[in-house]
Amino acid sequence: MPISPPLNSDEVARKAVRARRSWDPVVKITHWSIVIAILANALVTEEGSGAHIWVGYALAAILALRLLWGLIGPAEARFSAFPPSPRRALDHLRDIRAGKKQIHRSHNPLGALMVYAIWSMLGVIIASGIAMAGPPSTAFLDQAKRSSEISQKAVVERRDHDADEAAEGAGGEEDVWEEVHETAVNLLYVLIALHIAGVIFETRRSGREILLAMLPARA
Ligand code: HEM
Ligand code: HEM
Repeated sequence: MPISPPLNSDEVARKAVRARRSWDPVVKITHWSIVIAILANALVTEEGSGAHIWVGYALAAILALRLLWGLIGPAEARFSAFPPSPRRALDHLRDIRAGKKQIHRSHNPLGALMVYAIWSMLGVIIASGIAMAGPPSTAFLDQAKRSSEISQKAVVERRDHDADEAAEGAGGEEDVWEEVHETAVNLLYVLIALHIAGVIFETRRSGREILLAMLPARA
């Protein structure tokens, strides 16, 4: 009977990680649904259209589910498994420079900071989007109807208040949210580029099949 050569400790660790490394279905489904929703609103839907807002609300629901999972999900999906800690992130950078490979059951400390940054940016995008779209009763009217509703509201307000002040207030507030929304979307694109670069870098460096663990095929 052939005897296989003994494995060194690095190989043992890698094999062990490879055997168990996989995110649970909720993490995987929410991850790829968030990706699809962002792609849809960035590339497919018309800015501010009914479809854009529908996708936006779906994105909010998916994010809410993932955040709930951070409280009640399995150990590696919980917030407690990847606290946002700049100190740990610096230690991790030192490990990278020293060529040290630590095994992390959840996101590594640098990845954790990125995850919280992406979630926060999505929060700002969702909040500013909802602020522009208005309450759900008016949110799904098309852009033209919403614009005319907003101008009708401004006319009514003008009757009640000083004309100049009301017009400036209504237009100004909408502009601010638009600016916030657009800036946060652009910052999100930067974070996504860094995130993907980080995944590629970490996959190459640690050989932990980080990407495979997030793919649907792996049970
Ligand atoms: C990550 C997903 C999203 C992306 C990539 C995205 C992208 C954009 C962009 C590029 C604009 C144009 C901004 C401008 O230059 O004026 C826009 C506008 C808008 N977005 Fe989003 N958005 C997203 C999510 C949302 C969400 C969650 C909502 C609300 C539920 C929303 C509601 C709106 C509205 C109402 C406008 C129209 C602004 C106007 O009237 O001109 N968006 N979005
Ligand atoms: C719109 C683009 C993307 C966004 C917003 C995004 C966001 C995120 C977030 C928030 C997480 C944390 C997952 C969780 O704990 O729930 C994550 C993890 C991950 N993402 Fe993405 N992602 C994007 C695109 C991608 C792409 C294109 C890939 C593949 C190349 C990818 C691969 C991964 C992997 C492998 C992880 C797990 C990292 C680890 O093991 O710590 N992501 N992503």
